[in-house]
Amino acid sequence: MNRLIKPTIITALILVGFSCNTTKSTSKNNHPTVVESPFDAKIDSLMSLMTLKEKIGQTVMYSGDLTVTGPVVSNNNQKYVKEGAVGAMLNVFSAKATRDLQKLAVEETRLGIPLLFGYDVIHGYKTIFPINLGLAASWDLEDIKKGSRIAAQEASAVGIHWTFAPMVDISRDPRWGRISESAGEDVYLASKIGKAYVQGFQGDDLSKHNTILACAKHFVGYGAAQAGRDYHTVNMGQDELWNVYFPPFKATVDAGVETFMTAFNELNGIPATGNKYIFRDVLRDEWDFKGFVVTDYFATNEMVVHGYAKDRKEATKLAIEAGVDQDMMSNANHLYLEELVNEGKVDVELINDACRRILLTKYKLGLFDDPYRYSDEQREKEVIYEPEFLEAARKSAAMASVLLKNDNKSLPLDKNQTIALIGPLAKDKENIIGNWAAEGDRNGKAISVHQGVQEYLGDSKIIFAKGCEIEGKDESGFSEAINAAKRADKVVMVLGEDYDMSGEAASRTNIKLPGSQTQLIKAIREAVPNKKIILVLMNGRPLDLSEEDILADAILETWFPGTSGGYGVADVLFGAYNPSAKLPVTFPRNVGQVPIYYNMKRAGRPMNPNNPKEDYTSNYLDSPNSPLYAFGHGLSYTTYQYSDITLSSKTIGFSDTLSVSATITNMGDYDGHEIVQLYIHDKVGSLTRPVKELKGFRKVFIKKGESKTVNFDLTVEDLKYYTADMSFNVEPGEFQIAIKGSSDFDFKHTFTLE
Ligand code: NOJ
Repeated sequence: MNRLIKPTIITALILVGFSCNTTKSTSKNNHPTVVESPFDAKIDSLMSLMTLKEKIGQTVMYSGDLTVTGPVVSNNNQKYVKEGAVGAMLNVFSAKATRDLQKLAVEETRLGIPLLFGYDVIHGYKTIFPINLGLAASWDLEDIKKGSRIAAQEASAVGIHWTFAPMVDISRDPRWGRISESAGEDVYLASKIGKAYVQGFQGDDLSKHNTILACAKHFVGYGAAQAGRDYHTVNMGQDELWNVYFPPFKATVDAGVETFMTAFNELNGIPATGNKYIFRDVLRDEWDFKGFVVTDYFATNEMVVHGYAKDRKEATKLAIEAGVDQDMMSNANHLYLEELVNEGKVDVELINDACRRILLTKYKLGLFDDPYRYSDEQREKEVIYEPEFLEAARKSAAMASVLLKNDNKSLPLDKNQTIALIGPLAKDKENIIGNWAAEGDRNGKAISVHQGVQEYLGDSKIIFAKGCEIEGKDESGFSEAINAAKRADKVVMVLGEDYDMSGEAASRTNIKLPGSQTQLIKAIREAVPNKKIILVLMNGRPLDLSEEDILADAILETWFPGTSGGYGVADVLFGAYNPSAKLPVTFPRNVGQVPIYYNMKRAGRPMNPNNPKEDYTSNYLDSPNSPLYAFGHGLSYTTYQYSDITLSSKTIGFSDTLSVSATITNMGDYDGHEIVQLYIHDKVGSLTRPVKELKGFRKVFIKKGESKTVNFDLTVEDLKYYTADMSFNVEPGEFQIAIKGSSDFDFKHTFTLE
């Protein structure tokens, strides 16, 4: 069996016969401490040899230091590893660096327990896919799964065992920079996408050397930070918590996610990292989560700053009692846990529980069989940037690009025409891979939009001008850009945000295009009033595009499309891929409408659609209620006509299935994929229900001139929600239902549940 674990541990395991008592102890809260697993006997044996200090060591994570040349592990951290005081490391990667450090853990500690190496592999490791919000826009679960499988293949080859992804925080606030890392605003879509990521990262067998642990984060409510300011306070009632913010996390548990991460925010007065209710009562008891929980970076200590713990020692106690198993970088467990146990302030069974859960993942990964199996320099060389990975990233970039507007068939571009390619992001190879791009090369491997367009046009038909920078007020490049526009048949402007204007700690109160970019479009519009202007956007959040919507003839939202982004975007621009993406998040008309999302509740005095400005109704004096672009919106080079839906019955019982179908006809000149969306509205509930709820979707390929009938089967399971008594239930009554190509419609059909 254990080829590489040092002999001391093998002898010890043989001595105890691998057969120790498998009875599980219980915590003082009477929570079962560990799940039944095929590794129980081995874990029992190992734990019977471990001192309290060594068990606590498993609950500690430290970080390597990132330098320009790669990760470096400080002498201090090396010393802790050798003392068996560390269970996991983050920010240590490369086959060599992980092997070297693993060697210390395996060969120089008393029991030779291997380390776990964690890293933020968010939308790719080397081959970078579109940012997560973009991936969500594809609504393509198979593609998302494939992308995270590729990320796992690359990451696992450099020694990484564990990614801190997916982030499944519902995100309804474009001011919040981390919306870029999310799947957007919708509960159903985000739940499906969360599951796809977990399946992609973890594969079907964790013991394979190319699968890694996933981590559902940030539990919980992180996306609801007040005013969209990162890390800020979160206050929400049970309805929103259970019906909106919890479900995507529950979906990852159902998909078998191995780890969870705490959130930085407080939730209803209690920091998430010390929140017993969410971790013990909900995650473990209610959902039967069998993996382990890690804090976010430094989050244990931050409970002191929140004003919830009087000092770090108390914070340490609160975290372990809340059900948090591993401490990322607070150095809290390391410093205080043993003392807390010795003083009788923390039940040692809580530490046993945490240690078991962490060891279990190491067994599942096969690290006790071969702790170096992930640190393979040969595989590292072979696997990184494989051509098929780059090709997959190109497809994902095309599938993520949302055609927001396309007046008078401005797109696709014609290969015989001359293009003025303008804007600070046209030749960019740095921002295009987006924020949190792991080890993706900026300025290296990434393909710019200019390169992508070159593939179609060659050099002679592209007139390039930068025009301006992303930020700043300098307009000195405008005249060159205007000149280029005048000489070309069409104008393509590639504008947007810097990659670090979204992501962690990157909230904005102004969600317009930064700098003088809007001025640049205005200047060009004025100079060439009759020429088509196509706006290609790269950004990490919904922007306020109300001016651009008027100025541009077509708008293609490409988010940050990744390493092969320029190719994928060009494929869409020239029609090699007919755009199919749909918005996973609402684009407001202005920041004052935020939060704005399609599945809102209805006020007692809703806006009157026939008289939107009617007094004493829920409206604005200075803006429509409606967004600029609705959730689910996204155009194609063809048009799809939806027939009215057919219901198998107007009335269903509790054990019936309702079949609903619609026929969709491709009316245009291009074959294409359409994302067909099923919405319902539960008209009356013991808790008020959203005005619309997505309950299903399907991506279907329809050839030009052809029709396809798309069918969905709905059962009462699909209609359940957490009702007034907080049971997951369905209530009889009338429901509205529709099958559409976006969330912007009025219901016409109903059925009744009796
Ligand atoms: C802080 C972020 O909130 C979290 O998502 C990330 O995984 C950790 N840092 C580790 O880098």
